[in-house]
Amino acid sequence: MTGALHTGLILFSFMVVCKSEPTHAGPDRVGGSHGQSELVHLTSHSAFQLFNDSLAFTRAESFCRGQFSSLANLDQTEDREGTLELLQQTGLTLAIWVRDPSKVASKPVALAKQYVQFPALNFTKESREGFARVNMSFPALSSVSVCVRVQWDPEWNEVSTIFSYAAPVFTNEFQLRGQADMQERILLALIIHGKHLPYKASFPNDGAWHHICVTWRRSIGQWAIYVDGIRKDMGSGTDTSRDIHGDGILILGQDQDSFGGNFTEPYFGAITDLNVWNMYLETRHASALNACSLMSQKVLFSWNPDYLTSHPVVKEVQALLFCPAVDQQMELQGCRTLQRWSDQPPLFGLTDCLERLPFICRSSRERYLKMKQMSGTQPSAFLNHLMKISNKTQPVLEQQPSGLSSLAQASDLLEISVQALEDTQQEGLQPTDMVSLIQLLSLAADIPSQPSASATSHRQDSIQELSQHFISVADSIINEENALKWQAIREVVNGPMDVVKSIDRMVTSLSPHLMAETDHLTIHRPNIKVEMQQQSLQEGFRGSIFCGPETEKHTNLDCISVPLQKIQDLHNNGFTKLTLVNTWYGSLRPLFSAEENITMVPTVTDGSQRYLGTVLGSSVISTTALGDDQPVSMAVHFQLRHRVQNPTGTVYDPVCAFWDFDLSPEAGGWWNTKGCEVVSKEYGYTVCHCNHTTNFALLLQVYEAQRSPENENALQVLTFIGCGVSLCGLLFTFILFIAVGVPKSDRTTVHKNLIVSLGIAELLLMCSDWASANELSPADLLCSFCALTLNFCSCSPE
Ligand SMILES: *[C@@H]1O[C@H](CO)[C@@H](O)[C@H](O)[C@H]1NC(C)=O
Ligand SMILES: *[C@@H]1O[C@H](CO)[C@@H](O)[C@H](O)[C@H]1NC(C)=O
Ligand SMILES: *[C@@H]1O[C@H](CO)[C@@H](O)[C@H](O)[C@H]1NC(C)=O
Ligand SMILES: *[C@@H]1O[C@H](CO)[C@@H](O)[C@H](O)[C@H]1NC(C)=O
Ligand SMILES: *[C@@H]1O[C@H](CO)[C@@H](O)[C@H](O)[C@H]1NC(C)=O
Ligand SMILES: *[C@@H]1O[C@H](CO)[C@@H](O)[C@H](O)[C@H]1NC(C)=O
Ligand SMILES: *[C@@H]1O[C@H](CO)[C@@H](O)[C@H](O)[C@H]1NC(C)=O
Repeated sequence: MTGALHTGLILFSFMVVCKSEPTHAGPDRVGGSHGQSELVHLTSHSAFQLFNDSLAFTRAESFCRGQFSSLANLDQTEDREGTLELLQQTGLTLAIWVRDPSKVASKPVALAKQYVQFPALNFTKESREGFARVNMSFPALSSVSVCVRVQWDPEWNEVSTIFSYAAPVFTNEFQLRGQADMQERILLALIIHGKHLPYKASFPNDGAWHHICVTWRRSIGQWAIYVDGIRKDMGSGTDTSRDIHGDGILILGQDQDSFGGNFTEPYFGAITDLNVWNMYLETRHASALNACSLMSQKVLFSWNPDYLTSHPVVKEVQALLFCPAVDQQMELQGCRTLQRWSDQPPLFGLTDCLERLPFICRSSRERYLKMKQMSGTQPSAFLNHLMKISNKTQPVLEQQPSGLSSLAQASDLLEISVQALEDTQQEGLQPTDMVSLIQLLSLAADIPSQPSASATSHRQDSIQELSQHFISVADSIINEENALKWQAIREVVNGPMDVVKSIDRMVTSLSPHLMAETDHLTIHRPNIKVEMQQQSLQEGFRGSIFCGPETEKHTNLDCISVPLQKIQDLHNNGFTKLTLVNTWYGSLRPLFSAEENITMVPTVTDGSQRYLGTVLGSSVISTTALGDDQPVSMAVHFQLRHRVQNPTGTVYDPVCAFWDFDLSPEAGGWWNTKGCEVVSKEYGYTVCHCNHTTNFALLLQVYEAQRSPENENALQVLTFIGCGVSLCGLLFTFILFIAVGVPKSDRTTVHKNLIVSLGIAELLLMCSDWASANELSPADLLCSFCALTLNFCSCSPE
């Protein structure tokens, strides 16, 4: 069998059944073909597997994730050596995808972070002379794009030139102009090679900032105007006989009637972020640039006022712009590839992320070996049944990673899995089945929800169905009954939070489709509850609360909510729609190993109790907030019921925590307490506040109620010293009583007796401590008993 086959085997059990709908045109590679062992390279810690099957970058990443591994990243020496060794063995000469460690996965962005300050130029109406000249020389261009942000002066309604590019031999070479119309809009027009194109693309004349991109390419004479990331006008048929002339002058804010001079048609308002590229822009570029993604490929001029010479009336000002993509770089610049590995050092490059290239997945050696071992086991009852209901008896091995590629396919597979799970409830799942199902969920969660040919309403239903089946499968896997099986697959699967992550990915990516026709959706299974709520922020907004199942009388005990103030902030920041995706997991607790240590700041240890670690002490509840379909960071309040009984001898103290997928990513994440705090501890539940959204739980810090040996010793020493001092005192008092000759009375007799009994008690106490320290149990018991009795007796008369 091929190396790819070994590892993909578990997945294949599924590929077997999706054969009914072949989607991949490539040849089926059946086990036993050549070069198999060379596709895997094992080092002392890692396993590197080459998949000589071409996938787009995100699909390759997803495939590796589905294999419980990750796309190779050549920054660690061991990874680099392993990867190069494998490539050498296979002799592959194509470029391969590699992970870019500097590119973090897109994460919710704090609202405040989404504003970026830009240096802008203000062309004020004080003078018609204002202009700015770009101090650089341009080559001849076969395609060109210019993007710019403008804040149009709403009072000005004559023709204005945003920029003009004039060549020595021809002045009206490339120009963008605008004019206000009667409908309170600004219309835009391009001039290319002197040809004035129509005023059609527009934006409202509202005095706000707008992003404009214009693009042209010679090959088919095509041009387009994008406003705020949307294509507003396009056409073709411009002069294709020549490039845009080089060595021209680019002027902002004025038309050039002669080369670099005789300015007319001034612009009034502010301009910033003007960039020029030597390429044609597609909609995805324009929309990413509108969101402030950077695009450094083929850039000729990138905005920098230091490279502008401007007229004194043009003032430099600061503009605060809404930049949602500033932290989540869209895949614009291309994805990272290893171009040539025979060079020293290896040559890296950037390639369009949609291209299909081979790739290498890296996992730990143990994980790889364990998976290989599991894939060799007999098919389980579940798997046999799965094959039966999918009408496949002959396992046809298809190891192409591209196997699961459409929503329909994923949906079918999930559906028959649900069916098979129901039918084989008696037998239960085998650990290998669990691994297969977890893989299936991971892959299905990544399937792009791109438009397909079928009608939208049909798609709506099928996406609904897919998510229902998805949650059903996940629900079966995280059933408490499978706790032991989770232990059995520990080497392969990090833990139940892997399933939670797949659910997060699935609901986040499908939520725009799921919420297209409704503003509320609930999927409820015994162990999982998913709820999506959507509200328009335009006319008023409301708070939102989500609770786990209301099975008990004390409802609202597992609840999470976003404070109204945060929704208000979102509204104030210009968002028009809020989607909240909430989930509740009731049964994860038994699936975690009994005791997990977490690092907490500050770790409190108090003298008499020893800190042991934490246990997951509640259900897991989560909120994902999407503002206009992009993840935003919000603060949340939640309360969770304690679901752990205190065994005697331990003390539990609740800690509010969240699962941080980035903390020790090799282990699939870890609990983190950053930004979370306990608001109040109540009987049986705890209220928390966290300044971001994700999966939350209560961790119960376990303290041992008994004293530790060190403390025991210290206490003993204290007892000896204390009792010693006390004994001396007693002796001294006794001597005083006798020597000084205090007059005899009932009171003195009582005192003398007391002194004697206290003295004996203390002696016994010291003796008992000594005995217990040396583990003399019978004497110990006797001692303790006497000590207790005497202590009691001596106290009672007072
Ligand atoms: C990878 O695939 C290509 C084309 O399918 C083939 O020519 C080449 O031999 C394969 N390389 C390995 C190492 O399997
Ligand atoms: C530009 O100048 C005008 C007039 O001085 C002023 O009203 C406007 O706010 C300025 N624009 C920016 C973005 O600072
Ligand atoms: C324009 O750029 C050139 C080369 O970068 C530089 O030497 C020159 O000083 C610049 N001129 C101005 C006015 O900034
Ligand atoms: C500017 O235009 C005037 C006439 O409108 C013309 O005489 C003059 O030569 C032009 N200047 C330049 C630099 O071409
Ligand atoms: C399998 O075959 C049976 C009857 O032949 C049919 O009812 C069923 O729909 C088929 N299942 C699939 C998944 O094609
Ligand atoms: C937690 O820490 C304690 C003490 O450091 C250690 O004995 C225990 O094994 C740790 N538990 C886990 C699950 O790491
Ligand atoms: C949350 O709080 C932590 C610590 O209190 C802080 O470091 C972090 O920046 C905060 N995050 C947000 C999104 O406010």
